[in-house]
Amino acid sequence: MPSPARLLPPLSIALFLLACEGPQSALDPAGREAERIAHLFWWMSGAAAILWLAMVVLAVYAIHIERPKHTRRGATTLIVMGGFVLPTVLLAVLLSYSLAMIPDFLEPVPAGSLRVSVVGEQWWWRVRYLRPGREAVELANEIRLPLGEPVEFQLESRDVIHSFWIPSLAGKSDMIPGRRTRLRVEPLRTGFFKGVCAEYCGTSHALMGFPLVVQEKEEFERWLERQAEPAAASESPLAAEGRDLFVESGCGACHTIRGTTADGALGPDLTHVGGRLRLGADLLPNTTADFELWIARTEELKPNAHMPPFGMLPSSELRALASYLGSLK
Ligand code: CUA
Repeated sequence: MPSPARLLPPLSIALFLLACEGPQSALDPAGREAERIAHLFWWMSGAAAILWLAMVVLAVYAIHIERPKHTRRGATTLIVMGGFVLPTVLLAVLLSYSLAMIPDFLEPVPAGSLRVSVVGEQWWWRVRYLRPGREAVELANEIRLPLGEPVEFQLESRDVIHSFWIPSLAGKSDMIPGRRTRLRVEPLRTGFFKGVCAEYCGTSHALMGFPLVVQEKEEFERWLERQAEPAAASESPLAAEGRDLFVESGCGACHTIRGTTADGALGPDLTHVGGRLRLGADLLPNTTADFELWIARTEELKPNAHMPPFGMLPSSELRALASYLGSLK
C-alpha cells in the first residue's frame, strides 16, 4: 500500500479540480467580470508554469554539462538573457495584459441600469433595490439579478470593513465605513450562486454569506414587484398568534415588517422573510423548525450577533412566531 505522503499530491490535485466547479467558484465563471478574472488566472498560471519548466530545464542542463563548456562571455550572455531579459519581457507582457483590464472593470453601467445598494453589517447584508422615481425595495441576505444586464452594486458598511464577493460573478470589493464603493456585475447565465464576506470582520465573519439567484428578466421583475408589496401573512390562528407575539415581544423595535407596526431599522427587514432561500445570512435552511432554532439559539448559532436569543419563550410561543415569520412569503 502506498504511503500517505505519496497519496498527497494526486489527492490535492483531485481536490483542487473538484473545487473548480459549483455555485461559489471563481474558476467556473457565470458573469462577464468573473470570466475576465478567470482568463487572467489561467494566463498567469500558464506563464508561471512555462517559466518554471524553463528554469527546471536550465537547472538540469547546468547539473549535467561538462565544465568548462561555456566561455566566460557565453556564460554572461546566458545569465543576462535568462536571468534578466526573459523575466523582464515576460512580466512586462503579463503586467500590460492585466493592467489593460482595469478600464473595463471601472466602466460605469449605462444610464437606467439596475442599481443595488448593499450594506455590510455584523454579520448580515442589508439589500436595497434602488428604483428611479419609485421607492427603494429593502430586503436582506438575498440578492436576485436579471440575466445579461449590467448591474451596479453600491457597497457600504455600518460598522467594520467587510468585503463583498460573489466569486462566480465578479471580483471582490471592500465595504468601508464612511465610503461608498461600486462594483459592476453582469450575469451571463441563470442559476443559483453564493456570495460571501471576504474580509475578517469579527467573531462570526465566516457566518456571513448570502444566496444569489440569476433569473430571466421577467421572472426577476415579478419577484421584485412582489418584494415591494407589504407583508401578507397567513391567516391561520397559529400565525396570528405569532404576529401578536412578534409585536408584544418587542421584535419590531429592531425589525421592519412593512404593512405592520414593526418598523425597526437595526436588524434585517423581515417583510418577505418566509420566501427567502436561507435564514440567518445563509446559515440555515428556511423551514419552520429552523426559524424556531434561530430565534431560540441565536447566540450559539452566530456568536456575538446583535440579536439576543429568545430561548426563554415557551416552545408553543416559539412555534407561533416561527409559523408567522415562515408565512411571510
Ligand atoms: Cu463581514 Cu467578514
